[in-house]
Amino acid sequence: MTRITVTVDGVRYTDEVEPRTLLVHYLRQNLGKTGTLVGCDTSNCGACTVHLDGRSVKSCNVLAVQADGHEVSTIEGLAADGQLHPMQQAFNDCHALQCGYCTPGMIMQACDLLKDNPDPSEQQIREGLEGNLCRCTGYHNIVRAVQQAAAALRADAPAATAPAQEVSA
Ligand code: FES
Ligand code: FES
Repeated sequence: MTRITVTVDGVRYTDEVEPRTLLVHYLRQNLGKTGTLVGCDTSNCGACTVHLDGRSVKSCNVLAVQADGHEVSTIEGLAADGQLHPMQQAFNDCHALQCGYCTPGMIMQACDLLKDNPDPSEQQIREGLEGNLCRCTGYHNIVRAVQQAAAALRADAPAATAPAQEVSA
């Protein structure tokens, strides 16, 4: 067994794990973070997507020991102060899910996509989500949801990103 310390959704955990334990299994079985799902176990579907130090990873493709000393964010840490994250709200508003199995991973991947590109085109959204599979929706409403969330997040962006105002002497 190997001792690891990982911060997950803002809480620090220290646990003994087998070196072969996958991060997704650690999250689900040790921490009870069952919002992160297993769809394939072979890094194809994206249902297990979480953020590791702020970037999306497929947690079935990462060992828990590789997260030692790092920060993990899951779908369960996304809402703040009882308010859905704009991406969660947009998926709800746009009916971007049916069975919901792909949704946690899809949302985590979409959030990562917007970090790099706050105003993606439809094509860029489709390419950004190509590692996340949905068997139900046909993707159209997922793309609409990401567009809605992107607009909401841009509207909420700090004024620091606005052009500096001129001040006369
Ligand atoms: S369960 Fe990780 S990619 Fe499918
Ligand atoms: S909503 Fe069912 S797999 Fe995406």
